[in-house]
Amino acid sequence: MARVVVTRPLPEEGILDLVATHEVEILNRMSLDEDELIAAARDAEGLLTLLQDPITERVIEGCPRLKVIAQFAVGYENIDVQAARREGVIVTHTPGVLTDATADLVMALLLAVARRIVEADRYVRAGRFERWEATELMGMELRGRTLGILGMGRIGLAMARRALGFGMDVLYHNRNPANPTEERSVGAQYVSYSELLRRSDVLSLHCPLNVESRCIVNAGAFSMMKPSAILINTARGAVVDEEALVEALERGTIAGAGLDVYQHEPQVHPRLNQLDNVVLAPHLGSATVETRTQMARMCASAILSVLAGKTDIPHRLT
Ligand code: DGY
Repeated sequence: MARVVVTRPLPEEGILDLVATHEVEILNRMSLDEDELIAAARDAEGLLTLLQDPITERVIEGCPRLKVIAQFAVGYENIDVQAARREGVIVTHTPGVLTDATADLVMALLLAVARRIVEADRYVRAGRFERWEATELMGMELRGRTLGILGMGRIGLAMARRALGFGMDVLYHNRNPANPTEERSVGAQYVSYSELLRRSDVLSLHCPLNVESRCIVNAGAFSMMKPSAILINTARGAVVDEEALVEALERGTIAGAGLDVYQHEPQVHPRLNQLDNVVLAPHLGSATVETRTQMARMCASAILSVLAGKTDIPHRLT
């Protein structure tokens, strides 16, 4: 029986077949460094990883029996894919299945910030709801506002569809314009990055983290945005310069933010905690029972296929 290491507990239903047919060890530590990963997976043929696991060249070389790394995420910036390719290790990930769950969370964060839901919840719990007030906790209406999408991939498109339902206009910026049929289907207009910043009432981030996108939303970007604008980030924390974001929120350069990801995740900038115009979530984009179970299933199936010697492996990166 081949040994497979899973770095954190996953929805059990998704990995039943894997557990039934292989020697599976499920680790349960808060975080693993390179040495701990090597110690745990030295003799493993399969490794099921999460975003916070540093799957570096050293780890890959330190696990010489490894045939497959299945990443429980669509993003894979924690994995040295080149090193895996060099060592002949197949890397897979889980695109597609988390599109709707993530777009739903964007909408939830947007509504929570625009309609001040978290503030309102605190207000009620604090016993401050003494009478109905005509001017209390007024928020921003979405109909007729402009949503700016940075990164028009699957999740960006899914968000654009939702925004249409709320009567919003959609602008987007991407490395390349989306295909015209998709663009038309959501009535989205391609604009430059600076125009996106200037015209958006809501800026929602959907780009992957890479050298071009790291800290692309910085002090300069905030200074171009409307003072009434809301930023939603469910992509990667490091796309935003968090210090600049805190200053923009404190000074009223922008009006609010809904954040699911953080530049130094899992640490959250301490001044964000002090702000009423911010709603914070702990990286919940894909966190529905359906999606997380399906992600686990995809990872298990990739490992089972590689270890069974199959070559037609879906969603492989190497
Ligand atoms: C991903 O898949 O990249 C998410 O951030 C985690 O679900």
